[in-house]
Amino acid sequence: MWTEFFRPRTLDEVVGQQEIVGRLKQLGTQADFPHMLFSGPPGVGKTTSAEAVINEIFTLAQRAANVKRLNASDDRGINVVREDIKNFARVLPSGGAKFKLIILDEADQMTSEAQHALRRTMETYNEITRFILICNYSSKIISPIQSRCAIFRFKGLQKKEVMSRLQFIATKKKLIVDEKGLEALYESSEGDMRQAINALQAASSLTTEVTDKVVYQVQGYVKPAELSEIIHNCIGSKPNFNAARKKVVNLMEAYGLSGQDLVKHFNGQLSTIPEKDLPGSLRYEALAMLSDVDYRLASGCNPLVQFDAFLAKLIALSQS
Ligand SMILES: Nc1ncnc2c1ncn2[C@@H]1O[C@H](COP(=O)(O)OP(=O)(O)OP(=O)(O)O)[C@@H](O)[C@H]1O
Ligand SMILES: [Mg+2]
Repeated sequence: MWTEFFRPRTLDEVVGQQEIVGRLKQLGTQADFPHMLFSGPPGVGKTTSAEAVINEIFTLAQRAANVKRLNASDDRGINVVREDIKNFARVLPSGGAKFKLIILDEADQMTSEAQHALRRTMETYNEITRFILICNYSSKIISPIQSRCAIFRFKGLQKKEVMSRLQFIATKKKLIVDEKGLEALYESSEGDMRQAINALQAASSLTTEVTDKVVYQVQGYVKPAELSEIIHNCIGSKPNFNAARKKVVNLMEAYGLSGQDLVKHFNGQLSTIPEKDLPGSLRYEALAMLSDVDYRLASGCNPLVQFDAFLAKLIALSQS
């Protein structure tokens, strides 16, 4: 997996999140290292930063005995996790480490009862063991824990940050990715670096020259302009059923989209067409028709027949 291979090992390598990285570097040098809570969307560097902190404050030899990684949504159940935490937290640090560290990922999966127990453990063994709790939603962490932690709110990564990291990886992998390809990778992953890197890896299995078209293909993500053209073929002053139909067939074949995928794409695209081209009433009719198509597809109807009917009805409505 490229995401693992290219996971930053140090805080300096972490892309974006400057404010957080700056604070973490400072805290790492302090003796009164606090409990920490990392929150934020998927794939933006939370686990990566926690690992980088470990690398910064523990020597390789110290890590095995002084660092523990746990996942709160572990299928062994929270009781086991709780026992693991307690047993680990109460043993003194060794090998010259100043304290021990528990990284508890997906902490927002814990029930509030489990969180209250955790809070007591955090307090009791505070001198010996520090915690880094990681979650997507800090609001799901009880406030007594929040108030005991330094909170770090990770944000979705910016376009230029994702693009520069992808370019770095592409160069290492001897891939050529054009500007539009990089933009498409960013857009289809919405600031989630893990997803963007996975998409790049998937694209690289098709070709060494990655363009936006390749990205849309592997992501099952349709170029908004192509959907928009189809709709405009149906609502303009000169509707062209055949052109619209051909593009629908093309999309389904080129991108390997199911009928229901296409419904979703159209559904999203309809809201972006300007009011002057698609007045309210027509837009609402079109959305209602799409929901019918969706329903019929779910009950096994033929997608092409359904989209033919959708396009034809849209033309008829826009002409009336
Ligand atoms: N800020 C970043 N800089 C460089 N690479 C990143 C960054 N964020 C994520 N990545 C890449 O994405 C992968 C996943 O990141 P990470 O495990 O840190 O995500 P996360 O924020 O913990 O997400 P989740 O909430 O899903 O656990 C990393 O292995 C790394 O390759
Ligand atoms: Mg993570």
